[in-house]
Amino acid sequence: MALLEVKDLAIAVAVGGQLVPVVHGVSFTVEAGKTLGIVGESGCGKSLTSLAIMGLLEGSQVRITSGSILFDGQDMLTLPAERRRAIMGADMAMIFQEPMTSLNPVYRVGEQIAESILQHRKVSKAQARERAIELLRLVRIPDPEGRVDSFPHQLSGGMRQRVMIAMALACDPKLLIADEPTTALDVTVQARILDLLKELQDETGMAIMLISHDLGVIAETCDDVAVMYWGKIIETAPADELFSTMAHPYTRGLMASIPVSDREVERLEAIPSRVPMLGEKLDGCAFHPRCGRARPICSDIDPVAIAVSPSHFARCHFPGEDQA
Ligand SMILES: Nc1ncnc2c1ncn2[C@@H]1O[C@H](COP(=O)(O)OP(=O)(O)OP(=O)(O)O)[C@@H](O)[C@H]1O
Ligand code: SF4
Ligand SMILES: [Mg+2]
Repeated sequence: MALLEVKDLAIAVAVGGQLVPVVHGVSFTVEAGKTLGIVGESGCGKSLTSLAIMGLLEGSQVRITSGSILFDGQDMLTLPAERRRAIMGADMAMIFQEPMTSLNPVYRVGEQIAESILQHRKVSKAQARERAIELLRLVRIPDPEGRVDSFPHQLSGGMRQRVMIAMALACDPKLLIADEPTTALDVTVQARILDLLKELQDETGMAIMLISHDLGVIAETCDDVAVMYWGKIIETAPADELFSTMAHPYTRGLMASIPVSDREVERLEAIPSRVPMLGEKLDGCAFHPRCGRARPICSDIDPVAIAVSPSHFARCHFPGEDQA
């Protein structure tokens, strides 16, 4: 059984009394101990999907309009609030792109890690502090006994992201959702954080859902990949299969535009034109205005997912046709 199974998840944003669909029925699974990468351009719905899984959309103008989220066999959307809260932040934890917005600048990092332990575990404050030091050591922060009393601004960006990872690991999660965890960091630090996540996965056996707009990051880290475009998953496959046989023209465009450095000026130069606007109506395949492979059927009929192999699916009328 998959650890996480998301089925036909649809999400809409309430704008002026109307619900505008932004995520149009995505389905994917994360296997225990494995890493699923979700990749796609800005605005395609990656963060909304992960916030929905974490139950963090409540109270916002964003609504889940249909679908189910099964975690460890339990439906997170129908589970009583108390049971759901016990899972969130403990069995399922999340790290975000910018640690400074998630860390409180006025508290010492050790206090913040201890707080997330105390929320979920019946331990004393002294035990929580000891565990915080242990977690700082686990995420390879030098001198954890000293650093536990640092304030966030006294640490580098990479160290702050390690603190965020330590907080997320406080209760030994089965699933870690990492939403663009390295984009705010320079390339060398980025690589070290990705290596750290892989090492921690080997040590703890947790599953990871890694979200990125950078296919290069996904290629290095993931067992399976789901490519998102305009609120839909348009290609899924085991990573080695996806990178050897990209069936969807959008995936091929993303691959061709992997930046050679983090300062690359023009990302996605290989894919012409623009991403559709939020709520914009587009008949047929949403990628057709940008697709070099498009034919008349593409602007009329939205393609369903076609099996390229038993484990590889692409939502395209002509998958893999212009393979080099
Ligand atoms: N709170 C919100 N209110 C209104 N619209 C929102 C809200 N959050 C997201 N959206 C819209 O929903 C769409 C999907 O957003 P989402 O943040 O999931 O994209 P993303 O794939 O994570 O992008 P990025 O790579 O920039 O982080 C976007 O068009 C965004 O403008
Ligand atoms: S369905 Fe048509 S427009 Fe869409 S990706 Fe495939 S070839 Fe391109
Ligand atoms: Mg996002």
